Amino acid sequence: MGINPTESDVRELLFSSLGDSRGELIALEQFKEIPFEIKRIYYIFQTAENVKRGFHAHQSLKQVAIALSGSCVFDVETENGSSSHLLDSPSKGLYMGGLVWREMRDFSHDCVLLVIASECYDEADYIRSYDAFKHQKSLLAQ
Ligand code: TYD
Repeated sequence: MGINPTESDVRELLFSSLGDSRGELIALEQFKEIPFEIKRIYYIFQTAENVKRGFHAHQSLKQVAIALSGSCVFDVETENGSSSHLLDSPSKGLYMGGLVWREMRDFSHDCVLLVIASECYDEADYIRSYDAFKHQKSLLAQ
């Protein structure tokens, strides 16, 4: 295919709050709490009931997803296996780097899902076919 997928990495991140008696505050900086240069943020909210999103991987994009409000579940697959991650706290992030197939489900009505990304939007970086993802995954396993 002429593409060299990058090794994948999925990790849950726990952010410390700078909160006090007034309430909570979490600060996220590039190369500190967020392990890459931040080029884009987007957020998903008012997701309709029973909707599933995602169903893609990326060639090289790195992302951290955080449920700022409410909750949702990420099902991810890499060359190292599959896992599910409940995002239900603004203190918890899910880091996804390299070749990671992701599907999101079980959005609560109040879910505001913030995504911090290492690159600007580029449709060419998307792998939207599960078969193409599995092919690239098999290249990584070699
Ligand atoms: P989509 O990839 O379907 O979102 P998800 O993977 O969460 O299901 O994105 C929906 C639309 O928004 C699609 O037309 C692409 C566009 N889009 C942008 O223009 N910029 C962005 O940063 C993102 C994430 C999506």
